[in-house]
Amino acid sequence: MTSPAERAARLDAEDPLAPLRERFVLPDGVVYLDGNSLGPLGQGVPERVDDVVRRQWGEHLIRAWNDDDWWTAPLRIGDRIGRLVGAAAGQVTVGEPTSVQLFQALTGAARLRPDRRLLLSDAAHFPTNRYLAGSVARLLGLTVREVPAAGLPAALAESGPEVAAISYGAVDFRTGDRLDVAGLTAAAHAAGALAVWDLSHAAGALALELDADEVDLAVGCTYKYLNGGPGSPAFIYVAHRHQAGLDLPLTGWHGHATPFGMTAQFEPAAGIAQARIGTVPIVSLLALDRALDVFDDVGLAAVRRKNQQLGDFFIDLVDDLAAGTGLEVASPRDRERRGSQVTLSHPDALPVMAALIHRGVIGDLRPPNLLRFGLGAPYTRYADVVTAVETLTGVLRSGEHRRPEYAVRRTVT
Ligand SMILES: Cc1ncc(COP(=O)(O)O)c(C=O)c1O
Repeated sequence: MTSPAERAARLDAEDPLAPLRERFVLPDGVVYLDGNSLGPLGQGVPERVDDVVRRQWGEHLIRAWNDDDWWTAPLRIGDRIGRLVGAAAGQVTVGEPTSVQLFQALTGAARLRPDRRLLLSDAAHFPTNRYLAGSVARLLGLTVREVPAAGLPAALAESGPEVAAISYGAVDFRTGDRLDVAGLTAAAHAAGALAVWDLSHAAGALALELDADEVDLAVGCTYKYLNGGPGSPAFIYVAHRHQAGLDLPLTGWHGHATPFGMTAQFEPAAGIAQARIGTVPIVSLLALDRALDVFDDVGLAAVRRKNQQLGDFFIDLVDDLAAGTGLEVASPRDRERRGSQVTLSHPDALPVMAALIHRGVIGDLRPPNLLRFGLGAPYTRYADVVTAVETLTGVLRSGEHRRPEYAVRRTVT
């Protein structure tokens, strides 16, 4: 019987994406499985940041807005992200935190369906999505009904004519469940509603097809699988067909038809430029621009194939090695229904993850008892999966996680 290490060696040797790992700066002695929270640093990004700060800002000063194309960067980089999510040019801009883009998207969608009073959203949605849906509802006099994705077709069949929009995540942040973007969007449309998707756990990991799937609006962060860096700005997608009738709530001057006309009244720019708001974090945005180079010659279909295979391998090893440790697989076993992470549950998840991180295997933790392992295909090796699962089961079998220092809950888990 071949050992896990031998299986991994063969899979790594056959992996067409293996050379991409060289495009990242990864510390020695660390197995990094938290790209679902913060992607790693790309080669060339520090140099780009240095250039933006020292030369563009330091030497060009205000002239950089024209000479270094700072002004056009949100739309130019938006189009680059568009290519990764199946969106033709002119439908994506980048600029704010995901939460702000979400507020824009949800309000914009509800205003496109002014006669309808219901927002359907996921009880399992990321908290910011739930909080903002509630706020948008209070502002516009709507009601939010939280419906699990599996119940969405039935809810749409029942209340369809009242539903303005549905708001779901393409991949569940806890379990990694992948939702059927095309199917649920079609179900929303059949009821006359719009579909707003959060792609934070999907962009850069799944082969998304926003245009082909007729998604209406979408948002996503860029610091997870797009590796943009801490706090890199989020994107918003508005399908061409909705842009003319759009009424976004945050009418900042960068979204004006003539920003330097300094006119008294807001007049939205044509196209996706109207979704710009104010001055973007240029250093962060241009770091993201460089980070996206990783995907220049890599298809998302190949990335997706590899993260599915990494996930299958991870789950196989858990099945083989973790019997009797209390670990359970909380992600779908079907690779088509799983995003780019594997989530395990364990009653002692908090100290187990702390012990694991101490041993150099970095994943993260979500309440109540979930251990998340992101599988960023461009830089994760099958050998890393073996190290992770062997270390995890080793920690549990030795009881190492019971040491008092691992019981401390840190602010960011
Ligand atoms: C689905 C989802 N939406 C939004 C966010 C975060 O939003 P923000 O960029 O505003 O912090 C996260 C963060 O992990 C997320 O998982």
